[in-house]
Amino acid sequence: MHNTDLEKMMDTTDEWIRERTGIQRRHYAAEGETTVDLAEKAARRAIEAAGLAPGDIDLIVFATATPDLVFPNPGTLLQARLGCRGVPAFSVEAACSGFIYALSIAEKFVRTGDARRALVVGAETLTRITDFTDRTTAILFADGAGAVVLTASEEPGIISTHLHADGGYKDLLYCTGGVSSGYEAGSDGKAVIRMAGRETFKVAVTMLGNSVDEVLAKNNLSRSAIDWLVPHQANIRIIQAVAKKLDLPMERVIVTVQDHGNTSAASVPLALDTGVRDGRIRKGDTLLLEAFGGGFTWGSALVRF
Ligand code: COA
Repeated sequence: MHNTDLEKMMDTTDEWIRERTGIQRRHYAAEGETTVDLAEKAARRAIEAAGLAPGDIDLIVFATATPDLVFPNPGTLLQARLGCRGVPAFSVEAACSGFIYALSIAEKFVRTGDARRALVVGAETLTRITDFTDRTTAILFADGAGAVVLTASEEPGIISTHLHADGGYKDLLYCTGGVSSGYEAGSDGKAVIRMAGRETFKVAVTMLGNSVDEVLAKNNLSRSAIDWLVPHQANIRIIQAVAKKLDLPMERVIVTVQDHGNTSAASVPLALDTGVRDGRIRKGDTLLLEAFGGGFTWGSALVRF
């Protein structure tokens, strides 16, 4: 879906969307295509890229805010399709920070020896909870999936992860309904995203800036140690602010927001995949992954690729 397609659906312009967000196009799942459908494609490609077969996977951690069903969790739905039955599989909901949370959890399983080859997936069909009558949010959100496989090794690949949340910010970014609290009158059981964009923007820049400081301080690193920033793709202006904080030129930042929009938990693994497959990210590079989302939740991961 290009910005020009959205121009036909709501009172917006390609120019406004590009200038304020950096987004040029985004992808929507086909009718009937679910989060797990997208996740399966990403998972199979990740497993193949790792030189493994689905039967080698011994843990699935699935980050999403848009699961196919309330239960079984999407990790188990994916597990059945991949055919690695019996291994633990569960989902993590931390909105746009979901992938960083899932990565951090899976890393701890691998570090303790409870898993040796963990599949970590971030996948969303955010268009199912998008209010297409609200131009302030509808232009941002999209669908997608990304995945990685973590394998046990003597040399650390994930050097550190840092997770945070502050539930006091709930009203700035939330979904209007849910199973337990019910749905708005007249909404036909549809829950939609509501966001105070300007306020969310400010908190995101502050918290992600703090997160960068934390990663560097905890690892006793200078800013020049980071080869690549792989950020959550919500808005090019947020990404630029974090890059500036790191003193990193934009050439060292993997930016996909122009092609994907905001795909929440899928955003960081989609960007990582782009940087790896086009040859920019190479073995031995030091990556800083970061994300920020509803809750608010936020977090980062320092990775030696
Ligand atoms: N098309 C055209 N005009 C639009 C528009 C659209 N799609 N959406 C909003 N506008 C208008 C507003 O009505 C407002 O008009 P006004 O000045 O006459 O009142 C004007 O554009 C500016 O709106 P504002 O909300 O101040 O814009 P902004 O520069 O803050 O950009 C966001 C809006 C949503 C792009 C930006 O705030 C943002 O990216 N926020 C954070 C989003 C985010 O990261 N969320 C997810 C975290 S995971």
